[in-house]
Amino acid sequence: MAGGLAMVAVVTAGGSAPVQAQAPTTKAQKKTTSAAARARADRIVAKMTREQKIALVHGLFPPMAAGKTANELIPSAGHIDGIPRLGVPLVRESDASLGVANQVEQRVGDVATALPSGLATAASFDPAIAQAGGAMIGAEARDKRFNVLLAGGVNLTRDPWNGRNFEYLGEDPLLAGTLGGAHIQGVQSNRIVSTIKHYVLNAQETGRNVLDARIGEAALRMSDLLAFQIAIEKGRPGSVMCAYNKINGDWACENRHLLTDVLKRDWGYAGWVMSDWGAVHSTAKAANAGLDQESGQELDKEVYFGAPLAEAVAKGEVSEARLNDMVARYLTGLIETGAYDTPVPTQAVTPDYAAHADVAQRAAEAGIVLLKNDGNLLPIARTAKRIVVIGGNADVGVLSGGGSSQVRSVGGAPVEIPLAYGGSASFARITYHASSPLNALRKALPGVEIEWQDGRNLNATLAAAKAADMAIVFATQWTTEADDVHDLRLPNQQDALIAAIAGVQSKTVAVMETGGPVLMPWIAKVPAIVQAWYPGQRGGEALAAILTGQVNPSGRLPITFPADASQPPRPRPVGLDRLSEVEAAAAANPAAAQGVTLQSFPVDYVEGADVGYRWYEKKGLKPLFPFGHGLSYTSFAYRNPVVTGGRTIRVTVDVANTGQREGSDVAQVYVARDGGGEPMRLAAFQRVALKPGETRRITLTAEPRILADYDTGLPGWRIAGGAYRVAVAHDAADRAMVSTTTVEAQTMKP
Ligand code: BGC
Repeated sequence: MAGGLAMVAVVTAGGSAPVQAQAPTTKAQKKTTSAAARARADRIVAKMTREQKIALVHGLFPPMAAGKTANELIPSAGHIDGIPRLGVPLVRESDASLGVANQVEQRVGDVATALPSGLATAASFDPAIAQAGGAMIGAEARDKRFNVLLAGGVNLTRDPWNGRNFEYLGEDPLLAGTLGGAHIQGVQSNRIVSTIKHYVLNAQETGRNVLDARIGEAALRMSDLLAFQIAIEKGRPGSVMCAYNKINGDWACENRHLLTDVLKRDWGYAGWVMSDWGAVHSTAKAANAGLDQESGQELDKEVYFGAPLAEAVAKGEVSEARLNDMVARYLTGLIETGAYDTPVPTQAVTPDYAAHADVAQRAAEAGIVLLKNDGNLLPIARTAKRIVVIGGNADVGVLSGGGSSQVRSVGGAPVEIPLAYGGSASFARITYHASSPLNALRKALPGVEIEWQDGRNLNATLAAAKAADMAIVFATQWTTEADDVHDLRLPNQQDALIAAIAGVQSKTVAVMETGGPVLMPWIAKVPAIVQAWYPGQRGGEALAAILTGQVNPSGRLPITFPADASQPPRPRPVGLDRLSEVEAAAAANPAAAQGVTLQSFPVDYVEGADVGYRWYEKKGLKPLFPFGHGLSYTSFAYRNPVVTGGRTIRVTVDVANTGQREGSDVAQVYVARDGGGEPMRLAAFQRVALKPGETRRITLTAEPRILADYDTGLPGWRIAGGAYRVAVAHDAADRAMVSTTTVEAQTMKP
């Protein structure tokens, strides 16, 4: 849909075979270009009455909507009637970041395959894994009669405590954009629409409906916007969802600069902009700024794009041409993806859950990160005869993240805890997927005695840990949309539990089921740490495969793990104190608290484009684990690098598996202008699967916009030219192999 620069290939090796799209392909459904789709959309719009047009630019929120039959209105996120006479399809929208969502089981008994969290997928550094996950979700969504998926979250992790980090793809724009695009491509291979969201800078959940995210234009273009730009070029999503927050003073869904100037003009985006649910604040301003469709209308103060829009058009406050454009963009997104011409089934079909579970397991296996492995404690040695597994409900399942992305997974929810308070209480429950690491370990290690301790009885737990040959403790941190994590420590005294276990058992493995980074005050005492994220519906099996060595860990951190809370730019959520006051007042006196709401507050993104690992380098901070870090049961070496410059930077290098096991490495190239004083940026990466002793020569090509700075005066991307430092690296802090090359000065369109 978007035009733009030729994309640099970030090639993948290994990875998963994509799930086949289940939609039938006919001649009429052959891939169509944006221009052809738009021309057809314009012809359809020309046949519509104004009333019909208005009806297409605002959507229902099924849980609150009335006047439809149960078969028409599937409980989910959104519904927009079609116009059968003109062939415009009925649109049913579902959340789908990690699978077809079913928050608080609004469709009783309807399950779906749950992928691991977005961060786990990002940790694979493998577009094929992201693509396969998207294709799987899209296939299930179509079978369940959804044709627009609210997927494709690429907001960069600016703060480790953001409650929604788990849904996104990490802190780097190239990584998030590349994998986000692949995910969208996978979803849309089923001839349905995926959104990309939340446009833009929805970087914290505290006060997300009121906060004003502040950042400079160039910094925004070089960070969060670049992630969207790359993902849109690669994935060509039918729709873009604008966010809740303000950006530089204007609501995201009525921000003319971002919606019209950047997205539609500079990037040539031809699809439609839909609002987030309850993110619209005006009629004429929003429509003229570039919002094309109001979603979940029941959640806004009024149905701004219903009668008020009709009135605004009648009065000339919004032109008929703009209304036509809004509808034509909606139809263009549906036409270009194939959703327009490929109706969903009239009755739900049962997806191939068995095949899809394998997609979830491969994603988990590729995304689990081995953070630490002193003395090669892992994989579990064949000599271990007695193992104790402790905590984290590992006897029944694995944790998942909360909010609109929540999947009710195949197998159900063995643990489900409703919430008494907090921003997410109305639509989230602490939910585990039925995939028990304990059972999977017992299955994988017949003959080994594996004891279970839930961790609540400290004396019994420590006695069991002492008596065993090895202890595996599962730590959990639940995070959710609509609430940020208040601090980075593990909740519920789990730090003390882990330290106590490590105090009596030198062979202790910590498995971290967390939304993102947590602090690890016990790290010196614990020889092996496995970052499992939220590992999805086959997380137990994936963890058992990694712990026993049946699968060699290959995930790499898509976010920096801080050594302490003071290292990231903001130690805790901005506005949290004020929010706590408002919540306390409401709890103390609900009647009196009505009308006491959180007022707008600014969040200044002082780090600008130096997000994540770049901030650490700029400030000279040593994190607990750097971006890109991840160990393996084998070892890798880079040899004979040849670095060339010119229009962009190319690195050709031998990647060698120098150990005894088959495994996958992620070669990373970081660049910075020599003498510029700026931190290095990830410019290319490639996952490479290698047999023991195997060497493969690969070429990595830098994404040109990573070499450039955004120049608002131009406007566009400007590569200053001159000498560049180039690191071929295992992670963002690795500077063992640095060389210099010369890049030509040049400019590129925005
Ligand atoms: C979330 C979106 C989601 C929408 C519909 C909002 O609260 O921010 O990500 O797609 O709800 O469920």
